[in-house]
Amino acid sequence: MPEPSFEITTRRQGAIAIIIIDNPPVNAMSPGVPGGIIAALEAANRDAGVQAIVLMGGGRGMIAGADIRYQGKAWPEGEKRLVDLIDHLDRNPKPVVAALGGAALGGGLEIAQACNYRLVGPQASLGQPEVKLGIPPGAGGTQRLPRLVGLEAASEMILSGRPAGAAEAVRIGLADRQLEGDFLEGAIAFATEIAGRSQHPRAGDRDVALPSPDFFKKLKEEMARKARGQTAPFAAIECLEAAVSLPFEEGLKREREIFERCAVSPEARALRHVFFAEKAASKIEGLPKGARPKPVSRVGVIGAGTMGRGITIALLDHGFEVWLAERNAEALAAGIARINEHYEAAEKKGRITAPEKAERLARLHPAVTFNELSGADLIIEAVFEEIDVKRAVFAELAGIARPDAILATNTSYLDVNRIAAAAPQRRDNILGMHFFSPANIMRLLEIVRADHSSPEALLTALDVGKRLGKTAVVARVCHGFIGNRMFEYYIREANFLVEEGATPAQVDKVLTRFGMAMGPFAVCDLAGLDIGWARRKALAPTRNLSERYSTLADRLCERGWFGQKTGKGFYLYEADQRKPLPNPDLDELISVSADESGIARRSITDDEILERCLYTLINEGANIIEEKIAQRASDVDVVWIHGYGFPRHRGGPMFWADDVGLDRILARIEQFNRTHDFWEPAPLLKRLAGSAQSFSSR
Ligand code: 3HC
Ligand code: NAI
Repeated sequence: MPEPSFEITTRRQGAIAIIIIDNPPVNAMSPGVPGGIIAALEAANRDAGVQAIVLMGGGRGMIAGADIRYQGKAWPEGEKRLVDLIDHLDRNPKPVVAALGGAALGGGLEIAQACNYRLVGPQASLGQPEVKLGIPPGAGGTQRLPRLVGLEAASEMILSGRPAGAAEAVRIGLADRQLEGDFLEGAIAFATEIAGRSQHPRAGDRDVALPSPDFFKKLKEEMARKARGQTAPFAAIECLEAAVSLPFEEGLKREREIFERCAVSPEARALRHVFFAEKAASKIEGLPKGARPKPVSRVGVIGAGTMGRGITIALLDHGFEVWLAERNAEALAAGIARINEHYEAAEKKGRITAPEKAERLARLHPAVTFNELSGADLIIEAVFEEIDVKRAVFAELAGIARPDAILATNTSYLDVNRIAAAAPQRRDNILGMHFFSPANIMRLLEIVRADHSSPEALLTALDVGKRLGKTAVVARVCHGFIGNRMFEYYIREANFLVEEGATPAQVDKVLTRFGMAMGPFAVCDLAGLDIGWARRKALAPTRNLSERYSTLADRLCERGWFGQKTGKGFYLYEADQRKPLPNPDLDELISVSADESGIARRSITDDEILERCLYTLINEGANIIEEKIAQRASDVDVVWIHGYGFPRHRGGPMFWADDVGLDRILARIEQFNRTHDFWEPAPLLKRLAGSAQSFSSR
């Protein structure tokens, strides 16, 4: 870990001392910082000319809380901690005003709560995001926040992790005032105003009232629904209960005990891993230092089907100007009508206002011909998943698009190098931007780096992804890239298990109990079984007939059961309902499919289902890492968390594999390999397991 280089400086203006915390980039409480602030407070206390103190973050005005890199790890011996600083602030003889110009999160907000007053600037964002890191607030937040804003508002902030903006912070009583104009001058003026008062408020002096006798019971029930499988929200509730039932100092102690226990939990380790994995994913290895993204404001989208429409909506929602093209006027009009319907519904539901809707739609331009895309900075193709159709589109674009425009394909599986070869003179500016459905909602964006994609093209795609609020991961070219390539193995194993004796409902239950957002069969029904069927039919002529193949999904499709869209698939769906009900006709098809494969069905345990579905993912993930399709193991985790509903609190498949133990996983895979097809252990898994290493080193 690099040595933190921080600076705590004190300025004087009249009777006010201004202590500025500079620990770039986010002013986290790294070793040395809390001690530095305490020393600055003590110096200001000694200075007879100082009547009040302003404490603030330097740079962008943030105080991002505890240094997450040190959580769950040893803190340097003898070094003051965040809790020591907060203890000191609580008893500081001179009044302290926290001036919060930017994000004050976690321990950053807890510092502010221990000050006597809190001021916010227009860009302030005040939150307790600790549960997202698998811990409750651990430096007084669960005890002081309810005393400042009431138990209801505090519980909402702590359990959701959602930050409050400046206006909300003032409204709920978390901040005393919002400053307009020069922030520092305003803070000094406020400090001068309160300096002469004989008494200064202290959060710990206040009481907390219970809003209703069953408040905590209801909160626990709500969390049991929302935070399935997680422990931190319940630990936070335990702390909040202590805020009501114990005196302030006792409550602080109780919070500390619970926090210490959680900080070393598997959940906290997993969530810290994901925090840093998400930051790492946006870094592309081997790019020249000076490479910069190109500016993008005008985007062309080709294809107004499911994905083209979703991508268009995502772009419109984030301020881009969009030209949408189709293969004919009718398809274009239908696409535009569906986008209009989306915004109508959003307005009806109160998600956007009428002027916002009008403003977004005014940025949407129907492009009757591709020629109208000639001014676009970026063009995203989302036409049928057929290589020849896509190549024809790129060849046509080569003669139309601006020479420096970035051209992206949203293909799910196809070879982006072959698509780029259709416009050879532009291949540097061609790459994949693989959005997930629904594209305006799903956070994952796989950026597919083709052999000739330039650094500028990659950085531009990353930049656009960030502006769309996506979590982008860079993948190299292969069939299905990172996510879909692994997904095929996962689904195939789920089908084999059903053929061998499990039921789709059993498989789905095991995986949702593990924490997957949905089971594999419910996912297939949602996505549409016809999509996979079309792909299997296209691949049929080249399929190796000696390899095991489950006909089950094909048999469903032959009967016109495409999942939710037809009301019948692996499950049955009532009109306009998404709740899966048992499909009474399924058992017969399963038996037919098992007979065709010559399989005598048996009873399958939940453990076998979990192991086979997840270990096949991990094994293929290992191949993807070895082949450098993914830059790092943690990228695979990010893909599965944001694109496929893998439980965040388990850290992603590769992190989870490390936790289970690679030797144990390898041993099971070797066992499966003796009795089943497709279980050749990945060479990387063998090497890592053999040398007691883990994926985290990759
Ligand atoms: N500790 C250590 N590093 C941190 C950090 C933290 N609390 N917060 C951010 N960083 C690092 C990031 O890893 C990133 O590092 P990199 O450049 O090497 O990749 C760098 O700071 C910049 O971060 P972002 O790219 O996220 O910067 P943004 O400007 O987009 O966002 C932010 C800034 C809103 C502060 C965001 O980083 C964030 O949400 N950070 C996490 C804040 C948080 O969860 N705080 C609670 C910590 S737990 C705690 O305080 C426990 C207490 O109750 C005892
Ligand atoms: P879709 O069939 O809903 O839409 C495709 C659209 O492209 C149609 O409206 C069609 O008229 C139009 N089109 C076809 N040829 C065209 C041409 N030459 N010029 C202009 N428009 C043309 O398909 P969908 O689902 O939107 O998929 C599009 C792409 O996105 C495919 O490559 C698919 O693999 C990929 N994708 C699909 C996902 C999904 O869940 N549906 C998820 C991620 C990627």
